[in-house]
Amino acid sequence: MEFKIALLPGDGIGPEIVTEAVKVLNVIAEKYSHTFTYETALVGACAIDATGNPYPDATHEVCTTSDAILFGAIGDPKYDNDPNAKVRPEQGLLRMRQSLGLFANLRPLAVFDSLIDRSPLKREIVQGADFVCVRELTGGLYFGKPQGRSEDGNTAYDTCVYTRVEVERILHLAFGIARNRRKKLTVVDKANVIATSRLWRQIAKEIAPQYPDIEMEFMFVDNAAMQIIQRPTYFDVIVTENLFGDILTDEASVISGSLGMLPSASVGAKVALFEPIHGSYPQAAGKNIANPMATILSAAMLLEHLELRKEGQAIRNAVNKAIEAGVLTEDLSSEGEAHSTTDVGNFIASNI
Ligand SMILES: NC(=O)c1ccc[n+]([C@@H]2O[C@H](COP(=O)([O-])OP(=O)(O)OC[C@H]3O[C@@H](n4cnc5c(N)ncnc54)[C@H](O)[C@@H]3O)[C@@H](O)[C@H]2O)c1
Repeated sequence: MEFKIALLPGDGIGPEIVTEAVKVLNVIAEKYSHTFTYETALVGACAIDATGNPYPDATHEVCTTSDAILFGAIGDPKYDNDPNAKVRPEQGLLRMRQSLGLFANLRPLAVFDSLIDRSPLKREIVQGADFVCVRELTGGLYFGKPQGRSEDGNTAYDTCVYTRVEVERILHLAFGIARNRRKKLTVVDKANVIATSRLWRQIAKEIAPQYPDIEMEFMFVDNAAMQIIQRPTYFDVIVTENLFGDILTDEASVISGSLGMLPSASVGAKVALFEPIHGSYPQAAGKNIANPMATILSAAMLLEHLELRKEGQAIRNAVNKAIEAGVLTEDLSSEGEAHSTTDVGNFIASNI
């Protein structure tokens, strides 16, 4: 089959990890007789430097004319350390999600047996953990207006807004995912304090009767933050709003041992986008030390989304082989045993 894949490497380690994922995709294409054509486009700080715009129209055009998007990461310290910068790389990410209608980010979290002892949590706590976080991506505090500063600069404000349509569509998606798993859905909110959370809770109660096979529960976000660490095996599918999901999924990444292991899919109205959950890890940029596995596993999710299931599984099997063989970057290795980003990519590609 033929597919066009948009490549958005972005900033920092983005180009290095996307290169390794493309290496793996090329082996898949050859082995399973597919044709993948790639078109690369700018997003984030590199796009600002080149065009002044963190999500140029040309990038949007490449995305909308592709079958799927593989994204690295954005972010650069020169913007992080300048609170007055008017144009920021993150605006590119938010604009991209909004203009592509990517309203849900799906973050599966499972434990790799041979990495259990790399988790800072005890083996008996993380063993068997296997859940999916469904994070709302285009609403809430990150997009609500007004947002800004008072004229004297001494007051800042953000606005959290959710509409019925936004809440309904993500809840239906989450119920559907739970239906194909262990049929348990935890709706995480702060309904004891926040009005938008109360709307989420009301709509979840209205929708639940359409999914009688799903056991739905509510959990306050502060409690969820604790339970994810204390009892990660308790969860099956978690659905939550943008800000809570952003924080909880980074927290949950410690269960698997490294942020560098976790892939994600952002889905919505049009084309879907696949990305590691981590950022641009600028300290590692150009050093060939970043873990490419989250991006390579994102490529596996991309193939599965295109209905290429055995191809996706072939990537997962090769990643497992690398883990079992100890072909790991420094985030998961003992001192002196680390492999480079390129080594890990080569090992996975040659084990497809
Ligand atoms: N989706 C995105 O593009 C995204 C997400 C989060 C942060 N950011 C941006 O990334 C920049 C850096 O942010 P940060 O330091 O908070 O987050 P980060 O995810 O880039 O890095 C945090 C830490 O996680 C570890 N890590 C992350 N990716 C890794 C990998 N592939 N291999 C090994 N270890 C890895 C490192 O220890 C690193 O110090 C900022 O500009 C931020 O805005 C972008």
